[in-house]
Amino acid sequence: KLQAIIAPSILSADLSNLADECQKLNEQGADWLHIDVMDGHFVPNFTFGQTVIKCLRNKVKGFFDCHLMISEPQKWVKKFHNAGADQYTFHYEAVENQEQLCKEIKETGMRVGIAIKPTTQIEDNLLNLINSNLVDMILIMTVEPGFGGQKFMYDMMQKVQLLRSKYPTLDIQVDGGIVCENIDIVAQAGANVIVSGTGIINHADPKKAMAFMKERVQH
Ligand code: DX5
Ligand code: ZN
Repeated sequence: KLQAIIAPSILSADLSNLADECQKLNEQGADWLHIDVMDGHFVPNFTFGQTVIKCLRNKVKGFFDCHLMISEPQKWVKKFHNAGADQYTFHYEAVENQEQLCKEIKETGMRVGIAIKPTTQIEDNLLNLINSNLVDMILIMTVEPGFGGQKFMYDMMQKVQLLRSKYPTLDIQVDGGIVCENIDIVAQAGANVIVSGTGIINHADPKKAMAFMKERVQH
């Protein structure tokens, strides 16, 4: 039941040529496209929002995995749904009532993801949300959110292991600093949804990098 999913992050792509870049990643074997939305407030960087995603949706097929690194993610659920997002992953730290937000996302038909920053621990409240079947995926950040190309935080694997021991079929995503050289570490910890930006896009052969990662995660 557990599927290996490779989700290249388009953050490190040529953003002036985004539709072509996305299509290229799809042809090279991407399972999902990981779309990093940053608001300059929750994280110290800006990227793009639902207006750009809506335009992309007209040209690009496949699963849009939207990672919302924004304050007040509850304000944008409908807009992202209308723009064509397939999954809405908000940050646990950005909201007070996570349960309510999960329900609002589910109502649209989008999949629900919850991301936690490196300093955020897996609290009982988060486990309760998973137990209530309100969450489709947990994203364990393996860098401080905000920028591509940072160094992988090995310590985060404890969180992945803990979650995987409790939930054999939950989609567990890892994001930040993942490259072919450390894919075995995240795979062995139990992650099955792999985000990689520079690790794929700056690789000499992105197709080969994605195939390699997928093979290692499937094992
Ligand atoms: C970081 C973003 C990541 C980023 C990953 O805040 O959430 O998705 O694009 O890039 P790499 O793989 O280069 O660390
Ligand atoms: Zn991300």
